Amino acid sequence: MRDPSEAETDMSEADHLGTVAPRAAPPGQDNAWPVAMLTLRVNGQTHRLALDTRTTLLDMLRDHLGLTGAKTGCNQGACGACTVLADGKRINACLTLAVAAQGQDIITIEGLAKGDALHPMQQAFVDHDAFQCGYCTPGQIMSAIACIHEGHAGSAEEIREFMSGNLCRCGAYPNIVKAVQDVAGQGDMRFPGKGGV
Ligand code: FES
Ligand code: FES
Repeated sequence: MRDPSEAETDMSEADHLGTVAPRAAPPGQDNAWPVAMLTLRVNGQTHRLALDTRTTLLDMLRDHLGLTGAKTGCNQGACGACTVLADGKRINACLTLAVAAQGQDIITIEGLAKGDALHPMQQAFVDHDAFQCGYCTPGQIMSAIACIHEGHAGSAEEIREFMSGNLCRCGAYPNIVKAVQDVAGQGDMRFPGKGGV
């Protein structure tokens, strides 16, 4: 019988399989933390990972898959820095357990570009200078794509309202709104929804 703490080792052309070890328990705590073999689909690739079942989707992406685009900000659902898409819906990865994300198509900022061609929202953020330090930017871009797809980009006021879950400490809000308006006006945004990128 397979030890569930061991990651799968076989790899097909379409799959990338992360190799992980469950995290050690803090000193003085029982080392027998629950570990499960999870299957997650991220940016069109299937990953099979042995993880502590309490691992968040954000930690799984960053620490186990090396996808560090989604950022850890507040780590409690208040800043939007960790925003990713799950079956086309924007979610806070810091509030989502990896085990609960199984069976969904997870899209991160790393899954948007097609080779050297940026997604129109990425390009719009560059064109409109919609960031300064850039820490919030991956979450802003993922949220902005969903905002348009949800039909909530009809005016600057509406964009501000429906992007209000994404905070920017640098105060780049005016140019973020311009970037979203630009892409919304193009009318042909590629939307990475259920089914992958
Ligand atoms: S890090 Fe997830 S909402 Fe702030
Ligand atoms: S660009 Fe710095 S926090 Fe938004």
